[in-house]
Amino acid sequence: MPDAPEVKAATSNGIPPPSFNLPLPDKPEIITANVQKLTEQTPNPRHKFIFKALIKHLHQFVNETSLTTDEWMAAIDFLTRTGQKCTPLRQETILLSDVLGVSALVDSLNNPVAGGATENSVLGPFFTEDAAEVDFGESIASEGKGDYMYVEGRILTTDGQPIPNAVIETWETDADGFYDTQYADRSYPDCRGRLRSGDDGRFGYRAVVPVAYPIPGDGPVGELLLLLGRHNMRPNHLHMMVEAPGFHKLVTAFYPDGCKYLESDCVFGVKKSLVVSLKDIVDEEEARKRGFPHGRSFKLLQYDIVLLTEAQSAKMRDGVDQERCIITEDHKKF
Ligand SMILES: [Fe+2]
Repeated sequence: MPDAPEVKAATSNGIPPPSFNLPLPDKPEIITANVQKLTEQTPNPRHKFIFKALIKHLHQFVNETSLTTDEWMAAIDFLTRTGQKCTPLRQETILLSDVLGVSALVDSLNNPVAGGATENSVLGPFFTEDAAEVDFGESIASEGKGDYMYVEGRILTTDGQPIPNAVIETWETDADGFYDTQYADRSYPDCRGRLRSGDDGRFGYRAVVPVAYPIPGDGPVGELLLLLGRHNMRPNHLHMMVEAPGFHKLVTAFYPDGCKYLESDCVFGVKKSLVVSLKDIVDEEEARKRGFPHGRSFKLLQYDIVLLTEAQSAKMRDGVDQERCIITEDHKKF
């Protein structure tokens, strides 16, 4: 006879019952009060603050909507499938946060700007670490990837001083609305590059005109958008991420005007200050001068990017945190 497998007794997590008794609920509102009373015991004050607010609003939501058992089970099934759809290359949970506007809201609250500093926009799922180094005036896109666009500007402080040697990561779709990572046969990074600003803060590179594209529609988030009667399109945009020592890292994107999805971006990334006008340049000599090998026209995107110093950014964030009355030194350990 083989040995019977060893059975371990079920064990508690070691936390004793509370020192007070909770009333056994004979009314729904007692359930909410009991959960909140237990949550009061949360040791970390920031955790306590967050979970008390979460429970308050979640219970309010159930009450307000008179949620049925079937609806709640449908929600649980939806969340389960959202998690199950995730792979190392596919993040459906972030997508859910994106389409509900939560990613954009968290980003905005955590990156307040002032003094003319450039606003942030959502990072999105298509940034990669392997972009090639691109010299001033060189191209981030291989030939044939789309209509020509030249991007130029300066990296500046809020006082208008140039920031030299800032690292600029930039990435975009090709003319078919795909990032290079969406091609199964991707053999090298394309439509993305890493540049540095010059001594005068200037940067310039050749790119292609990005086009509007759909976020993945073949998962639970796609189903949700259909249920809500919402499209799954992002307006065309060029991503940029700028870092320089002593300055707050900027993650942003620029949105050419005229796109029909600009005001209804499915992930709410567009900000008024990030909408840009592309200039039409029709001049063969100018096209050659900029390094475009064919044709006589291209689009020109000009934008000066203004960075906050780390100190300026910390001051801004502290102001917002104090307004929210929630952050203390202790809470920052969260
Ligand atoms: Fe994007």
